[in-house]
Amino acid sequence: MRKTSKTERQRPHREPLTSEALWKSAIKERTARVGIVGMGYVGLPLMRTFCRAGFKCLGFDIDAKKVAKLNAGQSYIKHIPSALIAEVISSERFEASDDPQALESADAVLICVPTPLTKTRDPDMTYVENTAHLIADHLHRGQLIVLESTTYPGTTRELVKPILESTGLQAETDFFLAFSPEREDPGRTDHTTETIPKVVGGIGPKSLAIADALYAAAVKRTVPVSTCEVAEASKIIENVYRSVNIAMINELKKLFDRMGIDVWEVVNAAATKPFGFQAFYPGPGLGGHCIPIDPFYLTWKARQFGMNTRFIELAGEINTSMPEYVVTRLTEALNERKKAVKGSKVLVLGLAYKKDVDDIRESPSIELIERLQARGAKVDYNDPFVPRTHEQREHNLKLTSKKLTAAMLKSYDCVVIATNHSTYDYEWMVKHASLVVDTRNATAGVKKGREKIVKA
Ligand SMILES: NC(=O)c1ccc[n+]([C@@H]2O[C@H](COP(=O)([O-])OP(=O)(O)OC[C@H]3O[C@@H](n4cnc5c(N)ncnc54)[C@H](O)[C@@H]3O)[C@@H](O)[C@H]2O)c1
Repeated sequence: MRKTSKTERQRPHREPLTSEALWKSAIKERTARVGIVGMGYVGLPLMRTFCRAGFKCLGFDIDAKKVAKLNAGQSYIKHIPSALIAEVISSERFEASDDPQALESADAVLICVPTPLTKTRDPDMTYVENTAHLIADHLHRGQLIVLESTTYPGTTRELVKPILESTGLQAETDFFLAFSPEREDPGRTDHTTETIPKVVGGIGPKSLAIADALYAAAVKRTVPVSTCEVAEASKIIENVYRSVNIAMINELKKLFDRMGIDVWEVVNAAATKPFGFQAFYPGPGLGGHCIPIDPFYLTWKARQFGMNTRFIELAGEINTSMPEYVVTRLTEALNERKKAVKGSKVLVLGLAYKKDVDDIRESPSIELIERLQARGAKVDYNDPFVPRTHEQREHNLKLTSKKLTAAMLKSYDCVVIATNHSTYDYEWMVKHASLVVDTRNATAGVKKGREKIVKA
């Protein structure tokens, strides 16, 4: 990449926000322009938050199809209504672009790109690296760059900063750099990007002050911390905490099943304690872009410090064993009915990794379907939010969602509830199915036909 001089990098259109005072005034006047890189599950709600707070936002994504949809006022994520996109487009607060040059007009650039794992379960930093290079190509003095993608502690300083500084500009002197983890929980209605406190760590005190001031103008509460590393680590432990606790309850589910005790009833009873216990519920395995993946970012980093993260590894082992456990329970239930998995017709209900969302990344339903297919079952699925499967990094099921009818439910040897979408009528499903394997306790309220239900 050609190195440009500091003077070349002065923004042509307006005075660069080179000091805390200039930044604070641009934030107060809402003239600071916010660029968001990655218009996905995280980038879109973040854009909405800044637009609502009165800022002009630019959404940059390398996916031209997404960009065209957004500029046409359409959403492609179930829980973000098209009306909302149409509103911010028509108010001229938001525009999307796949032209990296557009980033030059942004005073702040917030990075919300994927952070997956490689095949060998190491951090795949290519998205963050590519984005950092793209930003570096257009970096100018006074710009604030914030990484929001979940990652291992050290990423902002060790990976992003050197790429940005390869331009000749210096972090904290010429531009500002921070990490502020996204804490989005898609599908949740009791908390939004605006109400979830925003942790912010800067590469230095000026970067922290500017990033904190920007977020404070858009969200209810910010939590400034002393370094980027603290902010990065704070996000990872949230996910480790969930992964470890879910694994514990998944293991106890297996034990309580053997003992003839209903694990969901146990958790609900324990959760009546007003302190010292937080309820986690078992399921068919972990899904989504965060909990099955992020803890292993820390595991990878820990190895550089000569440490094994045993809790994380154990939790991963237990959680990834859950789809196989469901298949075993299903096999036993069919066996009771003198049926083999091979040749049986199985309907999996819910392809999304959790209820009421359309996200199938890392979904245990996919693992379940593949395992059942490998054993010779004929597997279909229904998901009101996932009309057809699409090619993923490691899967390509090529299936379409089957329409639910009483007759079709009857035609399956087994119906597996993998995702407990709120729109499902479980009473009706149990009435018409011959066998229901319930991995979510979704049938807890069903009165009739309980002899057909096997919890797994
Ligand atoms: N999904 C969640 O619930 C959630 C919650 C908290 C944190 N996070 C974290 O946020 C980050 C983003 O996750 P997501 O779920 O929004 O991902 P996503 O796949 O929904 O969206 C990422 C977007 O980035 C785009 N992209 C990829 N490379 C790009 C590049 N070089 N330049 C511009 N755009 C690029 C993709 O086209 C995609 O639209 C991840 O680190 C994730 O761990 C996700």
